Amino acid sequence: MAKIAWPILLSLLFLSAAVASNTHVKVTDNPADQLVAEIDANRTAHKSSSLYSNQGLACIALQYIKAYQGDCGAVGGSDAKKPSDSLFAETFAPNCGVEVSTLSPLTGRLLGCQSHYVSPQKAFSEILMKNEKSLEIVYSKNHTEVGAAVSGSDGGGPYFWCVLFSGGKKNSSFVLAGSVAKITKPGCFSGANDVCSAGDWSRSIHLWQFVVTALAAVGYAFAL
Ligand SMILES: *[C@@H]1O[C@H](CO)[C@@H](O)[C@H](O)[C@H]1NC(C)=O
Ligand SMILES: *[C@@H]1O[C@H](CO)[C@@H](O)[C@H](O)[C@H]1NC(C)=O
Ligand SMILES: *[C@@H]1O[C@H](CO)[C@@H](O)[C@H](O)[C@H]1NC(C)=O
Repeated sequence: MAKIAWPILLSLLFLSAAVASNTHVKVTDNPADQLVAEIDANRTAHKSSSLYSNQGLACIALQYIKAYQGDCGAVGGSDAKKPSDSLFAETFAPNCGVEVSTLSPLTGRLLGCQSHYVSPQKAFSEILMKNEKSLEIVYSKNHTEVGAAVSGSDGGGPYFWCVLFSGGKKNSSFVLAGSVAKITKPGCFSGANDVCSAGDWSRSIHLWQFVVTALAAVGYAFAL
């Protein structure tokens, strides 16, 4: 009995440590949250309202990036493509666990792509704010909420940055069925209070695998 109890106890200790460290993380450890902070600072400096950081909308921004399948050339220029609107209800929302009936119209979108990784501040000023039109979108009074995402392809470049704005109501738009968005690695999105690194995608995956391992150990021990 004692031989079984120790691994259980240790697993539980490590599991609670992992969960505890996960709930006390700072939003500053996620480049998508940093981008949202940058946008908010820019808006408030312009006397526009601060925006609600919507996790469901941000998860959809990451799905939006994935629709480009790493093709930087499709983001701008003469070959520019936009994911079809039907994809939001058919693919993006289900992938995130967002209730389709709560999808709200977008009031703006920003998308950028670059071969190498830059800081969220630079992504904002040097990639996303290319022209007057982009700044007009940022300042728009039509937005109430925002979601941002960043993702590389296969753990490396090119890096895509996506910001989606909506005029939806805080509690009734992009609502998550389980109150947290499904994590879809690789990539980071805002509003989830989680640690995410654009330079090293494996970090949070390792933590997750560790939690799974600990759970498996607990389950196995009980099965005896
Ligand atoms: C917002 O950011 C843009 C791009 O970096 C900059 O040109 C503009 O001056 C900023 N607006 C304010 C009000 O600080
Ligand atoms: C805000 O919404 C109105 C009405 O839909 C539209 O005419 C206007 O262009 C929007 N403003 C911006 C900056 O997108
Ligand atoms: C939104 O949800 C929060 C927390 O669940 C609640 O306190 C608040 O009253 C809600 N606001 C509206 C407008 O429903």
